[in-house]
Amino acid sequence: MKAIVTSGYGSVEMLDVAEVEKPEISDTEILIRVRACSVNPIDWKIRSGQIKMISGSKPPKILGGDFSGTVEAIGKEIQEFTIGDEIWGHVNALKGGAYAEYIKANVQDICLKPRNFDFVQAAAIPLAGLTAYQSLVRLGEVKADSEVLINGCTGGVGSVAVQVAKFLGCTVTGVCSTKNIEYAKRIGVDVIVDYKQEDVLHLNKEFDSVYDFVGNLSFPASKCIIKESGTFVTAIPSIPRIIFGGMLNSFRSKKCKGILVQSSSADLKTLKAMAESEALVATVEKVFPLNQVRQAHIASESGRVVGKIVMSLD
Ligand SMILES: NC(=O)c1ccc[n+]([C@@H]2O[C@H](COP(=O)([O-])OP(=O)(O)OC[C@H]3O[C@@H](n4cnc5c(N)ncnc54)[C@H](OP(=O)(O)O)[C@@H]3O)[C@@H](O)[C@H]2O)c1
Repeated sequence: MKAIVTSGYGSVEMLDVAEVEKPEISDTEILIRVRACSVNPIDWKIRSGQIKMISGSKPPKILGGDFSGTVEAIGKEIQEFTIGDEIWGHVNALKGGAYAEYIKANVQDICLKPRNFDFVQAAAIPLAGLTAYQSLVRLGEVKADSEVLINGCTGGVGSVAVQVAKFLGCTVTGVCSTKNIEYAKRIGVDVIVDYKQEDVLHLNKEFDSVYDFVGNLSFPASKCIIKESGTFVTAIPSIPRIIFGGMLNSFRSKKCKGILVQSSSADLKTLKAMAESEALVATVEKVFPLNQVRQAHIASESGRVVGKIVMSLD
C-alpha cells in the first residue's frame, strides 16, 4: 500500500510517499481503508524531532492520529462492525499510521461516522474533537451553567471545544485574532476577546474553567481569571505537570490539569450524535491530496489554521 513515511527527524523534506506492507490484523483488530486523514500539530512535532523524548519509535514512521474510511476486514472476535461500514476514528498519534491507504484499529478507536459528514469532514474531527470533549467533560467537569474561557477558539481543538461547550449549555468566552472574530461568532462564542487588542489576563472576570489550546497561558498567571475551585486545563502539559499535577491539585483549591487525549468509541459516538443533530460542524480550511503532505504540514505548522487541514485519499 501507499503511505507517507518519515525518513528522519527534520523539515518537511523528511516526508515522502513510499510503498509499504499493508497492516495485518489480529482476531481483535479491524482493517480500515482510509479515505481521509487530518494533520494535527503533534504530527509535525513528531516529524521535526521536537518531542523525541516521548514520540516512541524512531523514523521511518507513518504519522497520523485520525482518519475516516471504510471497514475492509474484521478480526474473528469482533461482532460490532460489518465490511463496508463508514467509520471515523482515532489512534494514538505517537504510534501513528493514518497517513496511509490502510490502518488497523481496535473497536475502542472507531465508530460509525456521522451520516451527514462526508469523509473529509469526518476526518477533521476525531483527534481534535476527543481532545476538546475530554478536556471539557472529564477534566473541566463543565455543567450547564458553567462559564468557560477557550484560548485558541478557532483552531482544530478550540473550534470543537466551543461547540461542545455550547451544546452542554455553557457560556463561552473565546480568544482569537481580529480576522477570525466572525468565524468565532458563527460557531457560537458568546464573548470574544481579540488577543490583538486585549490581554485575556486583564479581563477582570473569573471563569469556572479556562482551556489553553495555544500554549501561551500558564496556570500561575491564569489564576486571576479562574474562580475559587475552578480549573485550568492545558493541551500542552509539561512532563512534570503530567507526573506531579494530580498530587499538587490535592493541596490547592484552583486545579491545574493537562489533557492527554484517549481513544474512546463512546466519546466518538457522542460527537457523532452532536454532528447529526447539527450541533457540531466540521471546519476544513484546506484539503490536500496525500502526495502533497509537505504542503499540508507547512499549512498546519503556520499556526494560523482555522479548523483543520485534511488530506484526502480519494
Ligand atoms: N495533549 C493532547 O492530548 C493534545 C491533543 C490535541 C492537540 N494538542 C495540542 O493543542 C494545541 C492546539 O492544537 P490545534 O490542533 O487546535 O492547533 P491548531 O489548529 O494548529 O491551532 C491554530 C489556531 O490557533 C490560533 N492561535 C494561534 N495563536 C493564538 C493566540 N495567541 N491566541 C489565541 N489563538 C491563537 C490560530 O488563530 P489566529 O491565526 O487567529 O492566531 C489558529 O486558529 C497544539 O499545541 C497541539 O499539539 C494536544
